[in-house]
Amino acid sequence: MTPEEKQDLLERAARYVCPGRVETFRMMGLTPVMARREGHYFWDADGRRLFDVHINGGTFNLGHRHPEVVAALHAAADVYDIGNHHLPSEPRARLGEALARICGGSLRYSVFAASGSEANDIAIKTARRATGRRRIVSLEGSYHGHTGLCLAAGDVRNAQYFLSDGPPAEFVQVPFNDLDAMANALRAGDVAAVLLETIPATYGFPMPRPGYLSGVKALCEETGALFVADEVQTGLGRTGRMWAIEGYGVEPDILVTGKGLSGGMYPIAAAVLSERVAEWLRDNGWGHVSTFGGAEIGCEVALKVIEILERPGVIDNARVMSDRLAAGLDGIRERHPFLLEVRRNGLVMGLRFDHEIAGPLMTAAGYEVGLWAFFAGFQRSVLQFKPAIILDAGKADELLGLVEDAVALCEKRLGAA
Ligand SMILES: Cc1ncc(COP(=O)(O)O)c(C=O)c1O
Repeated sequence: MTPEEKQDLLERAARYVCPGRVETFRMMGLTPVMARREGHYFWDADGRRLFDVHINGGTFNLGHRHPEVVAALHAAADVYDIGNHHLPSEPRARLGEALARICGGSLRYSVFAASGSEANDIAIKTARRATGRRRIVSLEGSYHGHTGLCLAAGDVRNAQYFLSDGPPAEFVQVPFNDLDAMANALRAGDVAAVLLETIPATYGFPMPRPGYLSGVKALCEETGALFVADEVQTGLGRTGRMWAIEGYGVEPDILVTGKGLSGGMYPIAAAVLSERVAEWLRDNGWGHVSTFGGAEIGCEVALKVIEILERPGVIDNARVMSDRLAAGLDGIRERHPFLLEVRRNGLVMGLRFDHEIAGPLMTAAGYEVGLWAFFAGFQRSVLQFKPAIILDAGKADELLGLVEDAVALCEKRLGAA
C-alpha cells in the first residue's frame, strides 16, 4: 500500500467507522493498519513487520493464521455453515463434550455465544436464575465486555459512559485483593455471583495474592453466591495450565471462555455451567437463544484449537517461555530502571514502568521499533505483554531485543536515558 493509499484508508475509516480511534492513534503518532499476518507477526499496511504481543488479549494464542486452524476452517466450510441455532448438531455436541472434559469437575454444559461479552451476560443471567438473587459483585478496574449486563458488572468508568451502570444496588465493585471488602459485599446479602477475571487484564495483570481467590470462593460458599471465572483472557493454556483458575485451587460454578477459542479465525465463546446452576437449561430449552452462538464452523475451529492445546508440551511451553522471558526482562530492568516490575503467571504478563502513562508511550515506541503491544486501559503505567504460546527460544530472544529497543526509545524521549 502506498502512503497515499494508506492515508485514504485512514480517512475512510475515520469517516465511516471509528473517528475517535483514528484521531487518538494519530495523536499518539500511530497509524496502525493491519495487513498481512502470520504466526507471531502482522504487517502494517506500510510494510513494517510488528511482533504481536497484544494478540487481542489471547485471540491469537496460537499465533496468527495457524495453518492447522486455517485448514480446519476450510474443511468445516466444505461441510457446515452457521447451522440452525434451534437444533442440536454434531459440531456443537462435540465441542460441548470437549469443553466439559477440559474444564473438568462439575462443569458440564456449554452455552455458546459469539463473544466473551455475550458469554459473560449468559453467566450473569444463569447466576441470577440459579440463586433467585440479583446482585453481582466484581472488581474495580475489571473488564468483562461491552454488552448490557457485563458492561454494568465491569468498572463503572466504561458503564457510566453509556448510562449503563447500575442500578448501583445490583452491581457492586470492590477493590482487588481485598478479602474484607469482598466479605462485606457478600454478607450484605442478595448476591447471585462474584464475577472475576482470574488475573484482571485491563487493570494491568496484578497477581492475586496467595489465598485471595480461594478466600473469595470460601466466602461464596458461606453466603450462597456463585463463583464465575472469566477466563476469556487467561484461559486456554496461557498460564501453563488449561485454565488460570486451576492454579489457584478454585473450582468455579461457571467458567467463561472466548477469544483464543476462536483460533483467531472464527468467533466463538462459551459459558460453561456446572450441573447445579444449569437447571434453566433443562427447564426451558429456549431460555437463551443466539443465532451466531455456537456457529457450527466456529465449533469445528474451536475443536482444532483444543486438539492443538492438548498435544504434549504445548501448554507447558507457556511456563518455559515465561521463565526465559522473565530472565531476559530482569536484565533489561537492570540496564533500564524505567522498567519497574514484571508481573507474570505463565505468558499472562504485564510490564509496569516508571511513568503514569508509560503504557501508551511504550505502545508508541513499540510501533516504531517493530513491536505491537497495548497498554492496560485502567492502569496506564502498565503494558500488557502477551506473546502467543507457540513461542520458542529464538522468537523469545528476538522479542526481548524489541522490548529493549522500545524501552530505550521511551527513556530517550522522556529524557531519562
Ligand atoms: C476478561 C475479558 N472478559 C470478556 C471480554 C469480552 O470479550 P469480547 O470482546 O469477545 O466480547 C474481554 C475482552 O477483551 C476480556 O478481556
